[in-house]
Amino acid sequence: MRRRPVLVVNFGSQYVQLIARRVRELGVYSEIVHWDESFEVIREKDPFGVIFSGGPASVYQKGAPLPDKRIYTLGVPILGICYGLQVIVHQMGGKVERAEKQEYGRARLRVLREDPLLEGLPREFDVWMSHADKISVLPEGFTTVAVSENSPHAVVRDESGIFYGLQFHPEVVHTSFGKEILANFLFRVCRAERNWEMGDLVQEKIEEIRERVGDSSVIAALSGGVDSTVASVLVHRAVGDKLHCIFIDHGLLRLGEREEVERNLRSLGLRLRVVDAGREFLKRLKGVEDPEEKRRIIGNTFIEVFEREAVKIPGVRFLLQGTLYPDVVESAGIKGSAKIKTHHNVGGLPEKMNLELIEPFRDLFKDEVREIGRILGVPEEILKRHPFPGPGLAIRIIGEVKEEDLEILRRADHIFIEELKKNGYYDRVWQAFAVLLPIRTVGVMGDVRTYEKVIALRAVESTDGMTADWFRFPYDFLDHVVRRIVNEVKGVNRVVYDISSKPPSTIEWE
Ligand code: XMP
Repeated sequence: MRRRPVLVVNFGSQYVQLIARRVRELGVYSEIVHWDESFEVIREKDPFGVIFSGGPASVYQKGAPLPDKRIYTLGVPILGICYGLQVIVHQMGGKVERAEKQEYGRARLRVLREDPLLEGLPREFDVWMSHADKISVLPEGFTTVAVSENSPHAVVRDESGIFYGLQFHPEVVHTSFGKEILANFLFRVCRAERNWEMGDLVQEKIEEIRERVGDSSVIAALSGGVDSTVASVLVHRAVGDKLHCIFIDHGLLRLGEREEVERNLRSLGLRLRVVDAGREFLKRLKGVEDPEEKRRIIGNTFIEVFEREAVKIPGVRFLLQGTLYPDVVESAGIKGSAKIKTHHNVGGLPEKMNLELIEPFRDLFKDEVREIGRILGVPEEILKRHPFPGPGLAIRIIGEVKEEDLEILRRADHIFIEELKKNGYYDRVWQAFAVLLPIRTVGVMGDVRTYEKVIALRAVESTDGMTADWFRFPYDFLDHVVRRIVNEVKGVNRVVYDISSKPPSTIEWE
């Protein structure tokens, strides 16, 4: 079903997805478009309103991203945030220049006059700023609604009340009443309809899939993670046992993981085939140390094994994938970004096997997939699982992957995760795991010299995995985990805790 969206125009802000998510949380469908999207495409989407995101550029620079000016003739409200505000001011004849005093972090906003955008809010509150440019001259017909110490035009609007701008970021949690401001924009300024409700959406998706699949069969590669599990349960609701799930055990899973995943998936009623391919993967990884080479081998082997299994199922026409909206935006939106790691997925399969893709979550964020999972009765334990990379423990053993090292890593990792769960930390971190380092160090145990391996522990907070910060555990907790690992895992005599953030590091070590 087609929904009228609120469009978020991306000028390169790191918060662009957050803005779209906030709009959806308020019950209105939102979509992200790149700033140079054609006017015709935008008009065709028939939006309730448009939000210009922030961005790193300055409007007065040569080559700065500026939209086709016809967007101002759409006749729907436009809200500019930070750089987005400056775009509106610049294109409508005002002036933006470099500020002598840049403003980063918290600032006090003072409201000068009544306005629908700030209705119901106090006259003063804290907002979060991050800008180096300021508005020196407003376009004709614009007025200032609120100011901050360093921004004489922190909130502006035009006379007709159709163009609005905020110098601060309403989408971040540090801005008090940010959600209220966005809600006012949606419902008081744009008069948007509430058209984004997960219960309806699930029903719609089920019907859509049922119709599309007809009498054919669907195959899915399951990992036991949130996206592929919820996607499979959804499709199973639509087509029942015409969905065939394949779970490949590549021998790089965590302690007890295969049994756990098998139990979980079967309890959800899915028809599941488990393929034991550990030996094959390990054989191909023998002697390989380079991280990218490891990823490549695992990715290719995965496809081969999957293909081999899939041909055994008659009448397959579709391949189910748990692709999320951020993946779609990333691959379409960020041009020329450097490749950091090769992510393993079953990307090469559809063309090779002549399959059509079913991607029910292409327009959804991860939190929304979790919500759908809840509606479908998927247990919380599955919905709250930490992400686990496709190449598994292979990229957490630095250097060559050997069977005995997998054993050591599995045990250390298990202790760490067990303690996180026992002490209430599991749900507070985005991801936590152990890494096995390819070095040995000297220790002493019971008066005897040891010369053994080192484990690194990593736990990070993050909202999307794109940036991350290390988690601040109390020392006593770390102390307890380290003691347990050194005492219980044979072959390890030292444990370190990784306190690097992303950037400059990445979450995984390889
Ligand atoms: P990095 O290490 O790039 O990881 O900071 C960001 C997030 O992606 C996960 N990750 C992967 N997931 N296949 C996946 O499905 C992969 O090859 C892969 N590599 C990293 C990582 O665990 C983190 O959540």
